[in-house]
Amino acid sequence: MRPGELAAACLAAALASAGAAAQTTAPPKAAICAACHGEGGRATIALNPVLAGQTARYLYLQLRDFQEGRRSDPQMSPMAKDLTRDEMRELADWFAKQKPPLQAFKVDAAKARLGKAKADETLCTMCHLGGFLGQNEIPRVAGQNYDYIVKQLADFKARRRTNDAGNMTSVSNTLSDTDIENLAHYLVGL
Ligand code: HEC
Ligand code: HEC
Repeated sequence: MRPGELAAACLAAALASAGAAAQTTAPPKAAICAACHGEGGRATIALNPVLAGQTARYLYLQLRDFQEGRRSDPQMSPMAKDLTRDEMRELADWFAKQKPPLQAFKVDAAKARLGKAKADETLCTMCHLGGFLGQNEIPRVAGQNYDYIVKQLADFKARRRTNDAGNMTSVSNTLSDTDIENLAHYLVGL
């Protein structure tokens, strides 16, 4: 290889690795999110959702819903207010690629069994897929934080959260408080 060619090859290699690095580097605003959603979206505050490994499409749609007022939360709504569509897409793609945390929550095995039975009976996985891994606009719930799952199911049931096009309000209507607790024990351990 002649010196000129070598330099060009080195430059190409450097550009390629810079490109690869850029994909794994957090978008600038992810640092703000970490305060509540943890490093890499692995939320340690149980009332806040894990974002790591969530589907990108769902994350993006929720950010849009918070911004446009279809979903609201006193902590989260102001965070979405000034994001551009490109920032939302970038954040959603990045959090979707992060590794979900190992859950530290102590699952009660008996409650989790009852939760699984309820999930089977209610056909949750028809939408959320087997193992609650989610797809596109349907969220992953596997390994989500216990307190957050309980709050969302209660919010859908009480219609405090209504951005689900009716999918979850009708399902959650059939759930008692005990069902919700059992389901959360099952889901956090998946
Ligand atoms: C001050 C705390 C706080 C900060 C900072 C924050 N969030 Fe949130 N976020 C929350 C809370 C609390 C919820 C859950 C609201 C609820 O209970 O419905 C939430 C929910 C979400 C959801 C919905 C997740 C789901 O599973 O439905 C997304 C997506 C999200 N936040 C993204 C972000 C991004 C991206 C950032 C950074 C730009 C961010 N958040 C910064 C507190 C925060
Ligand atoms: C008909 C389809 C469908 C069925 C059946 C269904 N879900 Fe959902 N679920 C959804 C959709 C869609 C969303 C997201 C709604 C939105 O965009 O805000 C959701 C959201 C959720 C969330 C909130 C996730 C988050 O990160 O905020 C939880 C928890 C949940 N579902 C649990 C369940 C459980 C448990 C069952 C069964 C008892 C169930 N779902 C059955 C479609 C469904």
